[in-house]
Amino acid sequence: MAGKIPQSFIDDLLNRTDIVELIDSRVHLKKAGKNFQACCPFHNEKSPSFTVSQEKQFYHCFGCGAHGNAVGFLMEYDGLSFPDAIAELANLHGLQVPVEQSGGYQQNPAAADQYQLMELAGRYFQSQLKTAPQAIEYLKQRGLTGEVVKQFGIGYAPSGWDGLRQTLARSATAEAQLVELGMLIQRDNGGSYDRFRDRIMFPIQDRRGRVIGFGGRVLGDGTPKYLNSPETPIFHKGKELFGLYQVKEKYRNPNRILIVEGYMDVVALAQFGVDYAVASLGTSTTPDHMHLLFRTTAEVICCYDGDNAGREAAWRALENALPSLQDGKTLRFVFLPPEHDPDSYIRAYGREVFEQQLDNSPSFAEFMFERLSRDINLSGEAGQNELANKAIALIRRVPEGFNRESLLTRLSAQLRWGENEKRLRDIFRRQEQEDQTRTTPAKSGGKIKLTLIRRAIALVVQHPQEAALLPPLPDVLKSLNEPGIEVFMSLLAQLHSNPMTTGQLLEHWRGTREGNALAQLAMLDGIAIGENIREELEDVCDRLLDLYLQQRLEILQNQSQLTQEEKQELLFLISEYKRT
Ligand code: UTP
Ligand code: MN
Repeated sequence: MAGKIPQSFIDDLLNRTDIVELIDSRVHLKKAGKNFQACCPFHNEKSPSFTVSQEKQFYHCFGCGAHGNAVGFLMEYDGLSFPDAIAELANLHGLQVPVEQSGGYQQNPAAADQYQLMELAGRYFQSQLKTAPQAIEYLKQRGLTGEVVKQFGIGYAPSGWDGLRQTLARSATAEAQLVELGMLIQRDNGGSYDRFRDRIMFPIQDRRGRVIGFGGRVLGDGTPKYLNSPETPIFHKGKELFGLYQVKEKYRNPNRILIVEGYMDVVALAQFGVDYAVASLGTSTTPDHMHLLFRTTAEVICCYDGDNAGREAAWRALENALPSLQDGKTLRFVFLPPEHDPDSYIRAYGREVFEQQLDNSPSFAEFMFERLSRDINLSGEAGQNELANKAIALIRRVPEGFNRESLLTRLSAQLRWGENEKRLRDIFRRQEQEDQTRTTPAKSGGKIKLTLIRRAIALVVQHPQEAALLPPLPDVLKSLNEPGIEVFMSLLAQLHSNPMTTGQLLEHWRGTREGNALAQLAMLDGIAIGENIREELEDVCDRLLDLYLQQRLEILQNQSQLTQEEKQELLFLISEYKRT
């Protein structure tokens, strides 16, 4: 359990961050009245329903219901964990994330220690390489220069069973951590041994350059050829790409990124000046990978072996990339001759020829149609319908816009249905309808019934600055018999102690049962009737107080025995009610 990040620090970070600026750096926003808008990055749409409020420091999509503050946006869009999103924001402002050490619970090794251990492991392997002539010889024979070996931090894990263990597992805690990090393997009868032995070590870094895992290659023909770190708390294969950190170090906004299959390919390409290649880590390319890449660049080129396995991998990559193909994004495929991989190809033909291959590579549309129509006989109606159905099932995954339209045009050309595009649209709509009946409509934008208390809460979360100025309400109001009153009262208490924006206020409710409902209320339209928010707030407070008095009056009137105090209270309440 890592130390807790102090709420005050999170408040401060949100204070320094402008959500409009933050989102605009990732999704281009247009001003629309008081707010900013874009097509929602979290679902496919043609007209923008994704709205960012500068005043509230909050975003909301009226289409899919996605919403949140700056932290939430980073978590959703960049796929970060909560602590990483905080770290990212802190980084933007040049701040260090403090950790609350109090709280009495035992301070277990924090994630920071895990990263540090991995860093140390990387350095250990690098130092071992210097004294391992056979490993140096292997790298030389593979044609790697000392420079590129250093650039990628390539090292060597010696052949003993406990070189790393002896060096890094200085305490039982460290040993347990190294087991958790996949660097040591626990023995059944206690103790542990090095996972990686007699292998060339490729460190895998996350987007912030931290070492999170390793790939280790045997020097000769042993198996497995590559041994990879297992999934660990800090290493998730399906989300990381080998080499991406190096690409981003070199180019802030790379024009294109090449995906290849192997570690060696990335390193060899970089050595020859193709310094924009990444590799997935012994897995196929996942939707997360594609999403990550298309956030970094406009053009992704998949370069796989020309054999069957390579073509299968390419097809999976295509399927996984479709949802990321927003307008302006392109995807292409390069297939090298079967006897080559990028490493051997660039060594044989050099950078120029290799990049020519990239420049002339077919677009995803070409690849898609070639593959789809491969086994279909298009001369008959049945074949045509089959192609139309299969293609449309894929095209529907592409976000609305130019990319999707041009795929449809291409499809109708291929089918020679050119004059009859309506036929395609019909299939499209039918598939959509089938989908809708299949999936239960768990609509997030369902109507919320606006009770008095909900309206009161909505006013507070939408106008926290005004609500902070309200005079304190009597504590007894908490016992109002109305669900939500406690939330309302604690919102006001929070604002009284610390005025905040909507985004900040909701941060205090992250992960709570009420958090989601509050966020929905935050973006609900038509809560304030006029311009005078302060007056409306006072008005709902008065009405809540009235409701309380009324409830209390009923209780007392129904009671057969009243104490002296209760009698007085009753009289007071009656007079109070006469007054209004
Ligand atoms: P390849 O077998 O194509 O190897 O695996 P390669 O990249 O050409 O490696 P060299 O040139 O022989 O050194 C491609 C990728 O698949 C994963 C690795 O990520 C490798 O880079 N892989 C392969 C494994 O994870 N384990 C294996 O045993 C083999
Ligand atoms: Mn190879």
